[in-house]
Parts: sequence; C-alpha cells; structure tokens
Amino acid sequence: MKLDSLHNTEGDGRSPWERGAAYVDGEFCPIEDARISVLDLGVTRGDCTYDVVHVWEGRFFRLDAHLDRFAANLRRLRLDPGVDRSAIESVLHGCVGRAGLRSAYVSMTCTRGRLPRGSRDLRTARNTFYCYAVPFVWIAPPEQQTTTGVGMWISDIPRIPPDSVDPLVKNYHWLDMDMALFGAYEHDVGLVVLRDRAGGVTEGPGFNVFALVDGVWRTPASGTLHGITRRSAIDLLREGGARVEEGPLAAPDLRRADEVLVTSTAGGVIPVTAVDASPVGAGRPGERTLDLRDRYWARHADPAYSTPVQYDD
Ligand SMILES: Cc1ncc(COP(=O)(O)O)c(C=O)c1O
Repeated sequence: MKLDSLHNTEGDGRSPWERGAAYVDGEFCPIEDARISVLDLGVTRGDCTYDVVHVWEGRFFRLDAHLDRFAANLRRLRLDPGVDRSAIESVLHGCVGRAGLRSAYVSMTCTRGRLPRGSRDLRTARNTFYCYAVPFVWIAPPEQQTTTGVGMWISDIPRIPPDSVDPLVKNYHWLDMDMALFGAYEHDVGLVVLRDRAGGVTEGPGFNVFALVDGVWRTPASGTLHGITRRSAIDLLREGGARVEEGPLAAPDLRRADEVLVTSTAGGVIPVTAVDASPVGAGRPGERTLDLRDRYWARHADPAYSTPVQYDD
C-alpha cells in the first residue's frame, strides 16, 4: 500500500473520501471535513438557493436541467457563486469522482455569505459557493417502494405563501414542512404534504405529488417547486398515452385517488399507498405508478438524458 493511501484511511481501513466529497472555499475535502462559517447568512437567515442532481450507475441524470434551474435561481436571488457554469459542472464531477460514488446525491449551494465587519448591507456580502456528493439518498428505500409503498399525511399547517417565499426558487425555508412532518410522525406516517390557504395541495419536504383522479393524473402547478423529476414523470406519462393535468389538486381528490405517487431527485417515483391512514386503491403500489417508475429508471441509461461522470481511473 502506498504511503498516501495509508494516511488517507480511517480506523476501519476505509478512505474518508468514501463517505462523500465536498468543495468549499475553492478546495475539495472529504465530506466530514467540510465547514462553513456560523456567520454565513445562509446559516443565520437561510438566505441561499441550492440544487440537487443525482448520479445513477455512474451517470448524472438531467444535469443540464439542474444547472439551468440553479442558474435561474441564482439570478432571481441576486447571488453570485463566483464560478461559471462549466466550473460548477467540473466541481460536481470532481466531488463524485473523488468519492468514487457510482450512485450519489449531489448538491450545489450558493448562500448570501459573509458581510464585511460592520456592514449590514446585503449588497456588500461575499457569497459562498459549495458543493458535495454523498451516497444516494432515498426518501423511501427501494424495497419499500415496490412492496408496501409509503403512507402520506395531509397537514393542517399551511405552506408558506408563494408570494412570501417563491417555491420555484429551491430554498431552505422548511420550518413549515418540518413541523408538518412532526405532526405526521404522530400518526406513524413518514411523508407529509401541505396545502395552500385555498386548500389546494402544494408539495412536501423534498417532493412533488401526483394523483390519478377519474382517469387523469393531476399534479399541482402553483405553490410548488417545479421539480425536475416531476417534469420527467409528466413527459413519461404523456409518452405512455396518459392524460396529465398540471393544476389544482384538492385534498378530497387526493384522498379518493386510484393511485398516488411522489417524485423527487432523492428517490425517483415513489408509490404512496395510504393517505390520512386510508388505503389508496387496493393499498398496494399502483400498477401505473410501478410502470412509470420502471420507465423513469430505464431513462437513466439514455444519453439524451444522462451524462457519464468523469472518474479519474
Ligand atoms: C420542496 C421541494 N419540492 C419538490 C422537490 C422535487 O424536486 P426535484 O424533482 O427537482 O428533486 C424538492 C426536491 O428537493 C423540494 O425540495
């Protein structure tokens, strides 16, 4: 064994890079060593935007769509990561490559950063940019997705209004969703969705919602992040001949739907088998949901939608 790799191993003989890799302050480091300041406005105010793309079997999925969304949100929040798109792309490859991950959850963030001492003028802040790659994160494990599916709770806590915090800008204003999740835990349920003030279903922590109601797939269009997985699901459903309507989804329709699913980069297309403790359909993952899920994962090998990770070896 080379001296280098001896230095780089932990007590269990594994390299610290295997747990993930980060890029902070212009340098790569093992994920456990990644740090940002307690004075960063991303930490003190949640003033930031981020995006998450995944790597599956050595390929980024829809990397361009994620980079486009990140760029649009940076502009929207007047943030400057100090690096251009191709540099961000190579940092993402660098994180996944250093960690040697074949399947990964890959995040890029830009925060408002640090103010010069004595200044409270946000325009003087030096923005912070960081990325990391860790092993794939699942909202629900794949075994559960195909067997029992997951339960969902409809919270009474309203989603923060879109004219206060725009949900199209991927953000960390999650207190409403986190408190709603604690409410769901009281019913032994792991997924929660929130409604807007008019009672329309919006989204949940980390996912969009679809329901098959009277033969039409409905997914909320406003008050929700336009997820990249949501877009993939809409395209795949339409390609398969299904009708999809992007528009209001009322809670009673979600409760009486024949099939319900959620979509997320952190897990793909996930079957929901109970809403508010009542079974969806037969209480098993729906046939059309499982078909969509299969086609979603098959698309990951298609070079039109995926980019091979540049591993060094
Ligand atoms: C609030 C919210 N809605 C929806 C989604 C799903 O978006 P995507 O499919 O792009 O991962 C996410 C992803 O993290 C999210 O945070």
